[in-house]
Amino acid sequence: MAHDTSRLHLDTRCIHGGQHPDPSTGAVMPPIATSSTFIQDSPGVHKGFEYSRSHNATRFAFERCLGSLESSGLLEEQDRTCGGFAFASGLAAIGTALELLDAGDCIVCMDDVYGGTNRLLNRVRARSQGLKVVFVDMTDAARLQAAVKANAPRMLWVETPTNPTLKLVDLAAVASIGKAAGAITVCDNTFATPMLTRPLELGCDMVMHSTTKYIGGHSDTVGGALVTGRTDLCEKLRFMQNAIGSVMGPFDAYLGLRGVKTLAVRMQRHCESAMRLAQWLERHPKVERVVYPGLTSHPQHALAARQMRLHGQPAFGGMITIFLKGGIRESRAFLEHVHLFALAESLGGVESLIEHPAIMTHASVPEAMRRELGISDSLVRLSVGIEHADDLIADLDAALKRC
Ligand SMILES: Cc1ncc(COP(=O)(O)O)c(C=O)c1O
Repeated sequence: MAHDTSRLHLDTRCIHGGQHPDPSTGAVMPPIATSSTFIQDSPGVHKGFEYSRSHNATRFAFERCLGSLESSGLLEEQDRTCGGFAFASGLAAIGTALELLDAGDCIVCMDDVYGGTNRLLNRVRARSQGLKVVFVDMTDAARLQAAVKANAPRMLWVETPTNPTLKLVDLAAVASIGKAAGAITVCDNTFATPMLTRPLELGCDMVMHSTTKYIGGHSDTVGGALVTGRTDLCEKLRFMQNAIGSVMGPFDAYLGLRGVKTLAVRMQRHCESAMRLAQWLERHPKVERVVYPGLTSHPQHALAARQMRLHGQPAFGGMITIFLKGGIRESRAFLEHVHLFALAESLGGVESLIEHPAIMTHASVPEAMRRELGISDSLVRLSVGIEHADDLIADLDAALKRC
């Protein structure tokens, strides 16, 4: 029997949120349910499971945990997966969320978003769904207000901190503009995670995650998720998840559920180490500029301190962006000489990763837009893992000496 885990601390919900022992065996950890189909006693008479695209016990367990962590406010009695929906990738989750829109609708999107989000909107859905896509710098509420007034969007899409320039967006302000306009406000909470930022509590209608990142936490699974507390959206998403079919498989759901159990302790370490590294980098002579929401030099440090909190204290995540002195030659030399930091796309794993967005994760963003956003050849993005911070600093120091 499900019990209400929604009032427990987030640390506890990472482990117990939406979870209960397997009713058939008492297994404490949910088994990986591999069956694609389920026996029926008579046509249409079954135990609530018909076909695994629609019903999978391992995926349901992961979805309930995410629903609990993001505080959807929905209990299992109200919604089978507590408002959580898991998909084959973050982009599959975004693609499914966009199906809430009709052909020709407008979506207003934060200008600095993950390159794949930009590509899906600009190069796929603008054509196939006729979406009108308007990119706006949502750090400026007046600009957002004007874009909403001019375009009557049905959806606002926001990321905070943004990828890769780590701009902060005031979620409460954006959500209230969205609500007044009758638009669905969706927050990609991949960078901050539910441990640090609480989009639904701040008024957003839906949260999106690439669970490939901090939720999974070990760079060994690809997945995505949507969470909502709105029962009307729940109903539509459940239909879309099944109708489109880009669902998360049971093995990835198991890895996601296993990974998320340590999210609270991992995020604490990510935040502590990233702060140390950011302060150290800020003093390094080869570094032109460091962007990290925890630094007082970050233009939105005050907003970050309010909106990103862990255990009641400001906490700023594990992502750092630096601008090196020089250009592509210096960036390449630096990136070719790191050892502990793996030169690889993605982020949010226990191991530290480093990458060059202009050539790697954001190559799909049109060059003019990259220039406008400041994604230059000297910009390098770091995902600070949970190794000892002294070792990470030594690794960066040695590589910086080579550029
Ligand atoms: C912020 C953000 N959103 C969405 C995605 C897409 O997720 P996935 O790679 O799981 O499809 C990514 C991937 O890097 C991301 O960083």
